[in-house]
Amino acid sequence: MEKTEREDLAAWLKSQAADVVLSDCLQHIATSCIRIAHLVARAPLEGTAGSSDTTNIQGETQKQLDIISNDVMIEQLRLCPHIAAVVSEEVPDLIANPDAAENASFVVCFDPLDGSSNIETNAAIGTIFSVLELDGPTTDVTAESVLQSASNQIAAGYALYGPSTLLVLTTGKSVAVFALDPDEKRFFLIEAKVQIPEQTSEFAINMAYQRFWSPAVATYIEDCISGETGPRGKIFNMRWTGSMVADVHRLFVRGGIFLYPALSRPGGAQGKLRLLYEAAPMAFLVETAGGGASTGTRPVRSIEPEKLHQRAPVILGSKEEVELLTNLHHAS
Ligand code: AHG
Ligand code: MN
Ligand code: MN
Repeated sequence: MEKTEREDLAAWLKSQAADVVLSDCLQHIATSCIRIAHLVARAPLEGTAGSSDTTNIQGETQKQLDIISNDVMIEQLRLCPHIAAVVSEEVPDLIANPDAAENASFVVCFDPLDGSSNIETNAAIGTIFSVLELDGPTTDVTAESVLQSASNQIAAGYALYGPSTLLVLTTGKSVAVFALDPDEKRFFLIEAKVQIPEQTSEFAINMAYQRFWSPAVATYIEDCISGETGPRGKIFNMRWTGSMVADVHRLFVRGGIFLYPALSRPGGAQGKLRLLYEAAPMAFLVETAGGGASTGTRPVRSIEPEKLHQRAPVILGSKEEVELLTNLHHAS
């Protein structure tokens, strides 16, 4: 079959009139993801698919690939002089880039490997990232300056390491999807503007925590599973992979709602997902594609973070469903 002309990531960035400095930063992130995709694919052969004997700042046992992916991101992003610092799920403190240019004003927050409990089962996993712009260039970037800028996302995205490796990216205008050509080691555009349908009949939540849900979430899910004779008058389907990237990607493909809500168990008041490198970038992507992103009581992107690794309840997806659930929270 004859190959049609393909638009790669570099050409797409140029066509978006994304400024060259931001484009360079995003290219470095994409290069990290290509490298991680390769290492993820080789993990069973290299003996790196299992756990390590270390824990991260969240108290979670790290997988070997969590550490490897984190190292790849840090090494690769250091090569971009416009990046002043990075924040990683796997590292307690902000890491200043020793090779940053004097006028560097970007901070990249990332989850180097999301859904890593799925590694041994060979299910989809990913990398989530958010690019923040500092209020001004600084030679002494601190956690405080990053927290002040956390609502200033100028780009966000994720790589999904599934049967294909995909890159889903926004600079705030649209959400574009790229697929990795593993032979050429380049991402090519496959969809320029994804939109999340406003209505849905599919939800994603970990049902095992039902006893910890708020009355609003309990009512919403109960109404969904009541089916055609319940108050919603239609049949809902449920999916939960345990990888946020995979569950959120499904929203872009066929709509739906994804919830990791506040839980009444000890330590669960803010849910589980971390704001800077999980909740906020996904909220930016979903809202840019016409969907909604709420904690239940406020927009995810309105939160002014106080800590690098703070958590936030997350309700993402088809706009009407997110609104319905937000209304239930306000009414309860
Ligand atoms: P990570 O692997 O980066 O720690 O993130 C895992 C997250 C997210 O991907 C997923 O939605 C959620 O944890 C699943 O949590 P439960 O096991 O509590 O369902
Ligand atoms: Mn994660
Ligand atoms: Mn992770």
